Amino acid sequence: MESRLKELQLEALKKIDEAIDLKQLNEVRVAYLGKKGPITEVLRGMGKLSAEERPKMGALANEVRGEIGQSLEKKQSKLERDAVEKQLASETIDVTLPGSPVKEGNHHPLTRVIEEIEDLFIGMGYQVAEGPEVEKDYYNFEALNLPKGHPARDMQDSFYITEEILLRTHTSPVQARTMEKHAGEGPVKIICPGKVYRRDSDDATHSHQFMQIEGLVIDENISMSDLKGTLQVFAKKIFGEEREIRLRPSFFPFTEPSVEMDISCKMCDGKGCSVCKRTGWIEILGAGMVHPNVLEMAGFDSKKYSGFAFGMGPERIAMLKYGVDDIRHFYTNDIRFLKQFHEHE
Ligand code: DAH
Repeated sequence: MESRLKELQLEALKKIDEAIDLKQLNEVRVAYLGKKGPITEVLRGMGKLSAEERPKMGALANEVRGEIGQSLEKKQSKLERDAVEKQLASETIDVTLPGSPVKEGNHHPLTRVIEEIEDLFIGMGYQVAEGPEVEKDYYNFEALNLPKGHPARDMQDSFYITEEILLRTHTSPVQARTMEKHAGEGPVKIICPGKVYRRDSDDATHSHQFMQIEGLVIDENISMSDLKGTLQVFAKKIFGEEREIRLRPSFFPFTEPSVEMDISCKMCDGKGCSVCKRTGWIEILGAGMVHPNVLEMAGFDSKKYSGFAFGMGPERIAMLKYGVDDIRHFYTNDIRFLKQFHEHE
């Protein structure tokens, strides 16, 4: 009986060792330790033993069961551990694998130019103002010294909605609106970026809708030299420290005197090339001293206050800055064009 028990123990331990999963292990458990198993079977024969041998065999049988039980436990926890490890291994993420790239957008070139100009003027104490794109004839023309029938209205072919309402042809009406709000009290220092509309046929340099940035400063003792100094700072900051500016006499009904500002051509450094049409200069913006009529109409005392104003086109500035040859690129939103203006490259 003793040798049979030992034999069973060895057999069981071997099977435990061979079990490759929990199911097989459980089969071994049932087979050897279960009620119908061979050990129980052997113990049934105990009755035939002498009173002396019975406790010895009983102890041995318990020992064998204990050994098998322990071995089962050990193997079970090993199999469980293996299963967890296998699962973890199958779920590991390889962080060294290259990821799929996230498509990053970027600011539109016009937005970039406008924000750069805004930042520059905000740094000089200006506030950013806004006005409606559907505007009254009064603010778009009349309050800017362009009464009905004025020949200079023809300079800006307009989209009228009614006789008194139109799509604004420039951002200058924001001047009139802002001054009116200040009710004759200076100082006023604003820039106003926004969309404007004109009845133009679209081509490489014209668009029926485009952007403008208007500037206006009103205070006591504002002179033409303030305007010139401001424009000089602007030109050098936006186009480069080497750029020179020049002011040419011009005409706008809302300023007197009026000027146009040119910057020295970047392409040829002022020597003359095809970009500057051999003049060495490139026209950038219109400006002037606010006309006394405009001040008075908005409620400012033109004897006490004076001011300057300027208006420029961000498209033109972006075209010169980035070497863009067709204004329509800004509106067609071809991703191949827009991607070239990535800030991080
Ligand atoms: N409003 C003008 C235009 O659209 C641009 C302009 C010129 C604005 C002179 C001004 C200025 O404020 O002083 O052509």
